[in-house]
Amino acid sequence: MRCSPDDRSIFLAAQALTRSCDRLDVPINNAGILPDRGLNLLNISRDMLDLTMHTNAFGAVSVTQAFLPLLAKAPAARIINISSKYGQLDSLSASVPAAYGLSKLALNGTTIMLADTLRSQGLAVYAMCPGWVRTDMGGVAATRSPEEGADTAIWLATEAGPELSGKFFGDRQEISY
Ligand SMILES: NC(=O)c1ccc[n+]([C@@H]2O[C@H](COP(=O)([O-])OP(=O)(O)OC[C@H]3O[C@@H](n4cnc5c(N)ncnc54)[C@H](OP(=O)(O)O)[C@@H]3O)[C@@H](O)[C@H]2O)c1
Repeated sequence: MRCSPDDRSIFLAAQALTRSCDRLDVPINNAGILPDRGLNLLNISRDMLDLTMHTNAFGAVSVTQAFLPLLAKAPAARIINISSKYGQLDSLSASVPAAYGLSKLALNGTTIMLADTLRSQGLAVYAMCPGWVRTDMGGVAATRSPEEGADTAIWLATEAGPELSGKFFGDRQEISY
């Protein structure tokens, strides 16, 4: 697990990209941690809640702020936030890792608020769940390949319309927050 999300590295990355590109079309906020398997709100530490929230939810805010000048130069930029069904209101329960679930709930809220904030600038913002994917986080028993997990992100990046901004997707379909 990483020690701490690093805003400075985000802004340095934006500076570096500005030197080599004249616009940014589709940033995907994919970075995420799930450090609290087996923990619940009665035994999780405040530090773990903070770290998970900062990485999974507020990281997407920092990325948006840092890359906004480059996004504004794209004709129809779209931001894709990789969330999880664990953050759906109906999913929040004692069996969901507490920090992870709350952080994805916050990332979904971030998506709604950023979409509204950026609509007048012609920028779209989407949230999506990739499903259970065979990665370090998902483990070898997961039901989907990384390619299958990425399918909805590719659809959002290339085909979804601006009228869908602010919504949450799984398998190319809108799903409930
Ligand atoms: N796998 C699933 O079944 C599943 C299901 C639903 C949602 N998701 C979501 O899908 C996204 C990708 O997950 P994954 O399954 O690919 O997880 P993963 O295998 O654990 O990979 C997570 C990635 O996030 C990066 N990361 C973590 N903290 C970071 C930080 N502070 N700064 C920069 N990068 C950071 C990691 O980079 P390093 O390797 O360099 O640390 C790694 O590349 C996550 O947002 C996750 O919540 C996954």
